[in-house]
Amino acid sequence: MTFVPTGTNWMIEILSLLRNKGDPTWCNSVPIWLRSPWYETIEGQSQIKDVVPPRVLTSHLPFHIFAKSFFTSKAKIIYVMRNPKDILVSLFHFSKMLHLYKEPKSLPEFFEDFLQGNILYNSWFDHVKGWMQMKGNKNFFVITYEELHEDLRDSVVRICEFLGKDVDDSLIDLVVKHSSFNVMKENKMSNYTLISENFMDHTKGSFMRKGITGDWKNHFTVAQNEYFDDFYKKKMKDLNMTFFLGTI
Ligand code: A3P
Repeated sequence: MTFVPTGTNWMIEILSLLRNKGDPTWCNSVPIWLRSPWYETIEGQSQIKDVVPPRVLTSHLPFHIFAKSFFTSKAKIIYVMRNPKDILVSLFHFSKMLHLYKEPKSLPEFFEDFLQGNILYNSWFDHVKGWMQMKGNKNFFVITYEELHEDLRDSVVRICEFLGKDVDDSLIDLVVKHSSFNVMKENKMSNYTLISENFMDHTKGSFMRKGITGDWKNHFTVAQNEYFDDFYKKKMKDLNMTFFLGTI
Protein backbone atom coordinates (compact mmCIF):
# COMPACT_ATOMS: atom_id res chain seq x y z
CA MET A 1 0.00 0.00 0.00
CA THR A 2 1.52 3.26 -1.12
CA PHE A 3 0.95 6.66 -2.62
CA VAL A 4 2.63 7.13 -6.05
CA PRO A 5 5.78 6.85 -6.59
CA THR A 6 6.96 5.86 -3.19
CA GLY A 7 8.90 2.63 -3.68
CA THR A 8 5.87 0.46 -4.42
CA ASN A 9 7.73 -1.70 -6.92
CA TRP A 10 10.79 -1.94 -4.70
CA MET A 11 8.56 -3.39 -1.97
CA ILE A 12 6.90 -5.78 -4.46
CA GLU A 13 10.36 -7.03 -5.47
CA ILE A 14 11.35 -7.55 -1.82
CA LEU A 15 8.13 -9.44 -1.09
CA SER A 16 8.42 -11.49 -4.31
CA LEU A 17 11.89 -12.59 -3.22
CA LEU A 18 10.82 -13.34 0.34
CA ARG A 19 7.94 -15.43 -0.98
CA ASN A 20 10.42 -17.52 -3.00
CA LYS A 21 13.13 -18.00 -0.38
CA GLY A 22 15.35 -15.41 -2.09
CA ASP A 23 15.32 -17.23 -5.45
CA PRO A 24 15.10 -14.53 -8.17
CA THR A 25 13.68 -16.87 -10.86
CA TRP A 26 10.10 -15.61 -10.38
CA CYS A 27 11.25 -11.98 -10.47
CA ASN A 28 13.27 -12.65 -13.62
CA SER A 29 10.48 -14.41 -15.50
CA VAL A 30 7.13 -12.84 -14.52
CA PRO A 31 6.28 -9.13 -14.92
CA ILE A 32 6.05 -7.34 -11.61
CA TRP A 33 2.38 -6.35 -12.09
CA LEU A 34 1.43 -10.03 -12.46
CA ARG A 35 3.40 -11.05 -9.38
CA SER A 36 1.50 -8.50 -7.33
CA PRO A 37 -1.69 -7.48 -9.16
CA TRP A 38 -3.22 -4.04 -8.66
CA TYR A 39 -6.21 -4.22 -6.40
CA GLU A 40 -8.04 -1.25 -7.93
CA THR A 41 -7.68 -1.99 -11.65
CA ILE A 42 -9.94 -4.16 -13.79
CA GLU A 43 -6.87 -6.03 -15.11
CA GLY A 44 -5.56 -6.49 -11.57
CA GLN A 45 -8.85 -7.92 -10.35
CA SER A 46 -8.79 -10.57 -13.09
CA GLN A 47 -5.09 -11.33 -12.44
CA ILE A 48 -5.53 -11.78 -8.68
CA LYS A 49 -7.20 -15.18 -9.07
CA ASP A 50 -4.13 -16.55 -10.91
CA VAL A 51 -1.74 -15.77 -8.05
CA VAL A 52 -1.07 -18.69 -5.74
CA PRO A 53 -1.38 -17.81 -2.02
CA PRO A 54 0.21 -16.29 -0.06
CA ARG A 55 -0.68 -13.43 -2.38
CA VAL A 56 0.92 -10.04 -2.55
CA LEU A 57 -1.48 -7.36 -3.79
CA THR A 58 -0.71 -3.73 -4.54
CA SER A 59 -2.86 -0.66 -4.10
CA HIS A 60 -2.63 3.12 -4.06
CA LEU A 61 -6.18 3.57 -2.79
CA PRO A 62 -6.86 6.06 -0.03
CA PHE A 63 -7.95 4.63 3.31
CA HIS A 64 -11.57 5.79 3.13
CA ILE A 65 -12.36 3.91 -0.09
CA PHE A 66 -10.27 0.78 0.52
CA ALA A 67 -12.05 -2.61 0.74
CA LYS A 68 -13.97 -2.83 4.01
CA SER A 69 -13.44 -6.63 4.02
CA PHE A 70 -9.77 -6.00 4.83
CA PHE A 71 -10.70 -4.93 8.34
CA THR A 72 -12.19 -8.32 9.19
CA SER A 73 -9.58 -10.38 7.33
CA LYS A 74 -6.18 -11.79 8.31
CA ALA A 75 -4.49 -9.84 5.51
CA LYS A 76 -1.54 -7.64 6.42
CA ILE A 77 -0.69 -4.23 5.05
CA ILE A 78 2.78 -2.81 4.53
CA TYR A 79 2.41 0.95 4.07
CA VAL A 80 5.47 2.49 2.43
CA MET A 81 6.00 6.22 2.80
CA ARG A 82 8.53 8.54 1.21
CA ASN A 83 9.63 12.12 1.60
CA PRO A 84 6.84 13.93 -0.30
CA LYS A 85 9.32 16.32 -1.90
CA ASP A 86 11.05 13.39 -3.59
CA ILE A 87 7.66 11.93 -4.51
CA LEU A 88 6.77 15.23 -6.19
CA VAL A 89 9.96 15.22 -8.25
CA SER A 90 9.68 11.53 -9.16
CA LEU A 91 6.02 11.92 -10.14
CA PHE A 92 6.81 15.01 -12.21
CA HIS A 93 9.23 12.97 -14.32
CA PHE A 94 7.05 9.85 -14.41
CA SER A 95 3.99 11.85 -15.50
CA LYS A 96 5.82 12.87 -18.66
CA MET A 97 6.21 9.20 -19.59
CA LEU A 98 2.91 7.61 -18.59
CA HIS A 99 0.04 8.57 -20.90
CA LEU A 100 -2.46 7.83 -18.11
CA TYR A 101 -1.20 10.91 -16.26
CA LYS A 102 -1.73 14.47 -17.36
CA GLU A 103 1.57 15.67 -18.82
CA PRO A 104 2.92 18.40 -16.54
CA LYS A 105 3.78 21.65 -18.29
CA SER A 106 6.37 22.84 -15.79
CA LEU A 107 7.62 22.02 -12.31
CA PRO A 108 6.10 25.17 -10.71
CA GLU A 109 2.67 24.29 -12.12
CA PHE A 110 2.99 20.62 -11.12
CA PHE A 111 4.20 21.74 -7.68
CA GLU A 112 0.88 23.44 -6.97
CA ASP A 113 -1.13 20.54 -8.44
CA PHE A 114 0.73 18.16 -6.10
CA LEU A 115 0.07 20.28 -3.01
CA GLN A 116 -3.61 20.72 -3.88
CA GLY A 117 -4.06 17.02 -4.72
CA ASN A 118 -4.95 17.75 -8.36
CA ILE A 119 -3.24 14.55 -9.47
CA LEU A 120 -4.23 10.92 -9.84
CA TYR A 121 -4.84 9.48 -6.34
CA ASN A 122 -5.38 13.03 -5.08
CA SER A 123 -3.54 14.39 -2.08
CA TRP A 124 -0.41 12.79 -0.61
CA PHE A 125 -1.22 14.55 2.68
CA ASP A 126 -4.72 13.06 2.88
CA HIS A 127 -3.45 9.62 1.82
CA VAL A 128 -0.94 9.55 4.66
CA LYS A 129 -3.37 11.03 7.19
CA GLY A 130 -6.02 8.49 6.21
CA TRP A 131 -3.80 5.42 6.44
CA MET A 132 -2.13 6.58 9.65
CA GLN A 133 -5.43 5.86 11.37
CA MET A 134 -4.28 2.23 11.14
CA LYS A 135 -0.99 2.90 12.94
CA GLY A 136 -0.56 0.70 15.98
CA ASN A 137 -2.76 -2.02 14.49
CA LYS A 138 -0.99 -5.36 14.57
CA ASN A 139 -1.66 -6.11 10.89
CA PHE A 140 -0.36 -2.72 9.73
CA PHE A 141 3.34 -1.99 9.27
CA VAL A 142 4.82 1.34 8.25
CA ILE A 143 8.21 1.70 6.63
CA THR A 144 9.79 4.51 4.65
CA TYR A 145 11.69 4.57 1.37
CA GLU A 146 14.42 6.37 3.28
CA GLU A 147 14.69 3.48 5.78
CA LEU A 148 14.93 0.97 2.92
CA HIS A 149 17.66 3.14 1.45
CA GLU A 150 19.60 3.64 4.64
CA ASP A 151 19.61 0.03 5.75
CA LEU A 152 17.93 -2.42 3.38
CA ARG A 153 19.14 -5.39 5.38
CA ASP A 154 17.61 -4.21 8.64
CA SER A 155 14.42 -3.21 6.78
CA VAL A 156 14.06 -6.70 5.30
CA VAL A 157 14.58 -8.23 8.76
CA ARG A 158 11.79 -6.03 10.14
CA ILE A 159 9.51 -6.94 7.23
CA CYS A 160 10.17 -10.65 7.94
CA GLU A 161 9.31 -10.15 11.59
CA PHE A 162 6.07 -8.40 10.68
CA LEU A 163 5.14 -11.21 8.28
CA GLY A 164 6.01 -13.88 10.84
CA LYS A 165 8.80 -15.27 8.69
CA ASP A 166 11.96 -16.85 10.10
CA VAL A 167 14.86 -14.44 9.84
CA ASP A 168 17.57 -16.34 8.06
CA ASP A 169 20.86 -14.59 7.22
CA SER A 170 21.31 -16.18 3.81
CA LEU A 171 17.71 -15.40 2.84
CA ILE A 172 18.17 -11.75 3.84
CA ASP A 173 21.41 -11.57 1.83
CA LEU A 174 19.64 -12.87 -1.28
CA VAL A 175 16.72 -10.45 -0.91
CA VAL A 176 19.07 -7.48 -0.45
CA LYS A 177 21.17 -8.52 -3.45
CA HIS A 178 18.30 -9.09 -5.89
CA SER A 179 16.20 -6.07 -4.90
CA SER A 180 18.96 -3.50 -5.32
CA PHE A 181 18.33 -0.56 -7.66
CA ASN A 182 20.94 -1.72 -10.17
CA VAL A 183 19.59 -5.28 -10.34
CA MET A 184 15.98 -4.08 -10.71
CA LYS A 185 16.98 -1.52 -13.33
CA GLU A 186 18.44 -4.31 -15.48
CA ASN A 187 15.49 -6.67 -14.96
CA LYS A 188 12.98 -6.14 -17.73
CA MET A 189 10.32 -7.88 -15.63
CA SER A 190 10.66 -5.11 -13.04
CA ASN A 191 11.86 -2.00 -14.86
CA TYR A 192 8.65 -1.34 -16.84
CA THR A 193 10.37 -1.41 -20.25
CA LEU A 194 7.88 -4.15 -21.23
CA ILE A 195 5.04 -1.61 -21.11
CA SER A 196 3.99 -0.81 -24.65
CA GLU A 197 4.52 2.60 -26.24
CA ASN A 198 0.72 3.00 -26.24
CA PHE A 199 0.88 3.46 -22.45
CA MET A 200 4.36 4.76 -21.82
CA ASP A 201 6.71 6.95 -23.83
CA HIS A 202 10.09 5.37 -23.12
CA THR A 203 11.90 8.17 -24.95
CA LYS A 204 10.86 10.59 -22.19
CA GLY A 205 12.62 8.86 -19.32
CA SER A 206 12.99 5.70 -17.33
CA PHE A 207 10.78 4.30 -14.58
CA MET A 208 13.92 3.27 -12.67
CA ARG A 209 15.05 6.89 -12.82
CA LYS A 210 17.54 7.70 -10.03
CA GLY A 211 16.53 5.70 -6.98
CA ILE A 212 18.04 8.18 -4.53
CA THR A 213 16.88 10.19 -1.54
CA GLY A 214 16.91 13.98 -1.54
CA ASP A 215 16.69 14.55 -5.30
CA TRP A 216 14.28 17.40 -4.53
CA LYS A 217 17.34 19.49 -3.65
CA ASN A 218 18.28 19.41 -7.33
CA HIS A 219 14.83 20.72 -8.34
CA PHE A 220 13.33 23.00 -5.68
CA THR A 221 14.16 26.67 -5.32
CA VAL A 222 14.70 28.01 -1.78
CA ALA A 223 11.30 29.72 -1.98
CA GLN A 224 9.55 26.53 -3.15
CA ASN A 225 11.16 24.60 -0.32
CA GLU A 226 9.96 27.10 2.29
CA TYR A 227 6.48 27.15 0.77
CA PHE A 228 6.35 23.34 0.85
CA ASP A 229 7.51 23.18 4.49
CA ASP A 230 4.90 25.71 5.49
CA PHE A 231 2.15 23.85 3.63
CA TYR A 232 3.29 20.54 5.16
CA LYS A 233 3.20 21.89 8.69
CA LYS A 234 -0.29 23.33 8.27
CA LYS A 235 -1.71 20.22 6.58
CA MET A 236 -0.12 17.70 8.94
CA LYS A 237 -0.42 19.62 12.21
CA ASP A 238 -3.17 17.38 13.61
CA LEU A 239 -1.23 14.23 12.92
CA ASN A 240 0.75 12.81 15.80
CA MET A 241 3.62 11.96 13.52
CA THR A 242 7.13 13.27 13.11
CA PHE A 243 7.99 11.53 9.82
CA PHE A 244 9.94 13.87 7.56
CA LEU A 245 9.42 16.90 9.80
CA GLY A 246 12.82 18.32 10.54
CA THR A 247 14.41 16.11 7.93
CA ILE A 248 12.69 17.50 4.84
P1 A3P B 1 12.85 7.98 -8.64
O1 A3P B 1 11.95 8.49 -9.72
O2 A3P B 1 13.11 9.00 -7.58
O3 A3P B 1 14.11 7.37 -9.16
P2 A3P B 1 6.95 3.38 -7.33
O4 A3P B 1 7.41 1.99 -7.51
O5 A3P B 1 6.15 3.60 -6.08
O6 A3P B 1 6.27 3.92 -8.55
O7 A3P B 1 8.27 4.29 -7.08
C1 A3P B 1 9.18 4.56 -8.13
C2 A3P B 1 10.42 5.19 -7.50
O8 A3P B 1 11.11 4.18 -6.76
C3 A3P B 1 11.41 5.71 -8.54
O9 A3P B 1 12.07 6.80 -7.89
C4 A3P B 1 12.33 4.51 -8.71
O10 A3P B 1 13.59 4.82 -9.24
C5 A3P B 1 12.44 4.06 -7.25
N1 A3P B 1 12.88 2.67 -7.10
C6 A3P B 1 12.36 1.55 -7.66
N2 A3P B 1 13.07 0.46 -7.31
C7 A3P B 1 14.06 0.89 -6.48
C8 A3P B 1 15.13 0.25 -5.79
N3 A3P B 1 15.34 -1.07 -5.88
N4 A3P B 1 15.96 1.01 -5.04
C9 A3P B 1 15.78 2.34 -4.93
N5 A3P B 1 14.78 3.01 -5.57
C10 A3P B 1 13.93 2.30 -6.33
